Amino acid sequence: MGRVSGKLVLLTGGAMGLGKAAAKALLDQGAQVIITDIDEAAGAAAAEELGPECSFLPQDVTDWDRWQELIGEVEASHGRLDALVNNAAVTVFGSIADISPEDFRRCYTVDVDSIFMGCKAAIPLMAKSGGGSIVNFSSAAANKPNADLAAYNSAKAAVPMLTKSIALYCAREQNRVRVNSVQPGTILTPNVESVIAGTPDPDATREAFSIAQPIGRMGEPEDIAHLIVYLVSDESKFATGAPFIVDGGLSIA
Ligand SMILES: NC(=O)c1ccc[n+]([C@@H]2O[C@H](COP(=O)([O-])OP(=O)(O)OC[C@H]3O[C@@H](n4cnc5c(N)ncnc54)[C@H](O)[C@@H]3O)[C@@H](O)[C@H]2O)c1
Repeated sequence: MGRVSGKLVLLTGGAMGLGKAAAKALLDQGAQVIITDIDEAAGAAAAEELGPECSFLPQDVTDWDRWQELIGEVEASHGRLDALVNNAAVTVFGSIADISPEDFRRCYTVDVDSIFMGCKAAIPLMAKSGGGSIVNFSSAAANKPNADLAAYNSAKAAVPMLTKSIALYCAREQNRVRVNSVQPGTILTPNVESVIAGTPDPDATREAFSIAQPIGRMGEPEDIAHLIVYLVSDESKFATGAPFIVDGGLSIA
């Protein structure tokens, strides 16, 4: 208990899935969490369900003006920010032949540009707060190519390198802001459930998704939530610029 007590955390895409599970784990360990999401109804409902230490602010993470406004709101209301979890993303399917230039760009805008913007907007306030921790969501898909994930594979591969560059900048500035990325394997979230349900043979897909991980199953959202608590907490104070792989062995198969 209390591993992140007193910390103020801003977490994007917190309405459902891994973001909501991470928010719950952080709250359970004593943090105050502001979740944001483009889905205002689901975001507000999630914050209500997660309790009084959780609040919701609407945000499209691809909107630079909104990022600046949001960080201004956080500074005005709390005077500081201890952690930023850049979780929001979209999975865009399609091979090089199938995907349109617009969809390719959309995947990069949501999955990569948003992380650039979030870090750029938040680092000055975190530095003023005496330092903090940024966690950027990559994926096992950064290391495991799939012919039908041209945009998502490459966007998620950009995240660890962007993270390393920002981590080195923060270290050079000696601003006490640490920046790491996370690479989950296949985790059974509502998003993954709906992908499975949309395939011609959902049972076969569920089995294929499970055995892709050498340990023989998909992960649970809590498997990643525990990692987020560690990275937000001071327990990880010597970690920066690192890609944290929690994937049931997917990347070594
Ligand atoms: N679930 C998995 O198996 C898995 C595996 C590896 C990595 N990841 C990564 O983990 C993160 C969370 O995955 P998930 O499965 O929980 O996803 P999800 O789709 O269930 O949730 C993503 C959230 O982001 C929000 N969002 C989407 N676009 C947005 C925008 N422009 N602005 C603000 N919010 C926006 C959605 O409304 C949603 O609430 C993502 O970065 C994903 O790429 C997931």
